[in-house]
Parts: sequence; structure tokens; C-alpha cells
Amino acid sequence: MRYFLVGFMGTGKSYWGKLWAKASGISYYDLDEEIEKAEGKTITDIFKENGEGYFRKKEKQVLSSFFKKDNFILSCGGGTPCFFNNMKKMNQKGVTIYLKTGIDELVKRLSAEKQIRPLIGNVEDDLLKDFILQRLKEREPFYSKAIYHFNTAFLSEENFKKIASQHE
Ligand code: S3P
Repeated sequence: MRYFLVGFMGTGKSYWGKLWAKASGISYYDLDEEIEKAEGKTITDIFKENGEGYFRKKEKQVLSSFFKKDNFILSCGGGTPCFFNNMKKMNQKGVTIYLKTGIDELVKRLSAEKQIRPLIGNVEDDLLKDFILQRLKEREPFYSKAIYHFNTAFLSEENFKKIASQHE
């Protein structure tokens, strides 16, 4: 089965994806890392040198390459479900899992990582909360199309085991 983790930046998609994949003996991939490998440069540099439009096209392409693979958890970028028909495709080709984190925790995590996150790199600290709230509002309709929804404050290894047992 193919499992796609979606949700805003900083929700812990990579953390939980790695942990769940290891515990279940399946492969783990990070979509951003795969894009970086394909392009030979960092996400920050792709945004800077080629722009977001280019990044989104690459993201769609690399995501599509996973529809031919099997037995993995893929941690998607925060914007992946919100462009083209990516969310629909992921739902057709596998199982989507939405990780959701409270706004105050998100602001805390993301304000410490602004330099490595091109989307918020230029947002002033005191505007960060409003910026994230606005983006979440825009993105929620896409994220909410995922099959499973979890609040990350209550996540454990068991959550994924239960899901996997229903998709064997
Ligand atoms: C983005 C999230 C990032 C990365 C890029 C754009 C977004 O991924 O794909 O910086 O649009 O929210 P993570 O959610 O893994 O940080």
C-alpha cells in the first residue's frame, strides 16, 4: 500500500513518517528530499532561483513517480495537496493521512526554522501567527479530503498500525 502524509509545515510529518515506517518495516520517503535529489539543489534554492511555480510542477512530477512504487510512507510537503489534482490522485492511488497541530505549537516550531522554510522566510515574527492562520484556512479544504485525520498531540505508533491493518 502507498501511504501519503499531508499537513502544514511543522506538523511532524517527517518525524511520524520515519517512525511509523520503521515500526512497520516499510520504506520511508520525504517528497522534498526527492525533489532536492532530482534537481541537485535545496528547496530554498529552487524557490529562489526558479520560483514557486517551477517548484510546484517538479513537486507534481516527483509525486507522480511514487504512484508506480508500492509499500512506503511518503511525507509530502505542506503545499503538495493544494496544487493541481495532487490530493485527488493521492486518494485514488493510496491512503492519505492528515496530521494536524495546534496553531500556537506551529508558530513556536516554525519561528525557530524560518531560514530553512522559503514560504515563511520573509514573514515578520509578529505576523507569523496570522500568516499561518490564513494559509491554514486556504489549505484546510484540501487537507480535509484525506481519509484519516489526526491531532499530533495524541499520536502514537498504534495509530498507523491500526490504519495499516485495514489496508493489507
Ligand atoms: C511548503 C512546505 C515545505 C516545502 C516547501 C513548501 C509549503 O515542506 O515543500 O517549502 O508550501 O507549505 P514541509 O511541509 O515538509 O516543510
